[in-house]
Amino acid sequence: MFIRTASERDLDAVRALLVETWHATYDAIYGPEQVTAITDDWHSIASLKAQLARPNSEFLVADDGKRLGSMAFAAATTDPKIVLLNQLYVSPGCQRQGIGRALLEEVEASFPEMRTLRLEVEEANAVAIAFYEANGFRTTGRTADCGGSSGLPALILEKRLG
Ligand SMILES: CC(C)(COP(=O)(O)OP(=O)(O)OC[C@H]1O[C@@H](n2cnc3c(N)ncnc32)[C@H](O)[C@@H]1OP(=O)(O)O)[C@@H](O)C(=O)NCCC(=O)NCCS
Repeated sequence: MFIRTASERDLDAVRALLVETWHATYDAIYGPEQVTAITDDWHSIASLKAQLARPNSEFLVADDGKRLGSMAFAAATTDPKIVLLNQLYVSPGCQRQGIGRALLEEVEASFPEMRTLRLEVEEANAVAIAFYEANGFRTTGRTADCGGSSGLPALILEKRLG
């Protein structure tokens, strides 16, 4: 898998990766119907296109020439020292092979002014929390509204850089 910037041509494959990975990760927590509703909204082609157009952001994919194994999206806040890692998803068949860590390192290298990388993670998502803790993140708070419009509670994790 090599990591590169996503383009509009990738969006159908990115959406398929997100739908598959969301169902595998969250069906047991939220139920498949709620997962479908969220992913139809957050991961619609229109939403992904809007992400591609966001200023001060990085939209990355891991590609082996045949398929996408992972995607990540991060965007700076109004304070360029604080970057939000909005999405990091490795497809179920590609997990635990170092791809998530490689994408995270690429995100860290992509924002030279960044001092804090912040993300929100579902408290029941023990695999993701173990991954982030193994990569230098610590819990700094909680939100009642993961992603800004879901009404789902989540932990806030941060990594200090520089
Ligand atoms: C969380 C996720 C991004 C991790 O990516 P990955 O490519 O599978 O992880 P890596 O292979 O890079 O793992 C790096 C380290 O993280 C930790 N880790 C990863 N998966 C783990 C697991 N299932 N259990 C415990 N620790 C784990 C380990 O320390 C691992 O190092 P090691 O393999 O040398 O022991 C991936 O599992 C994923 O996409 N999960 C589903 C979607 C998701 O939850 N995304 C995050 C939303 S906030």
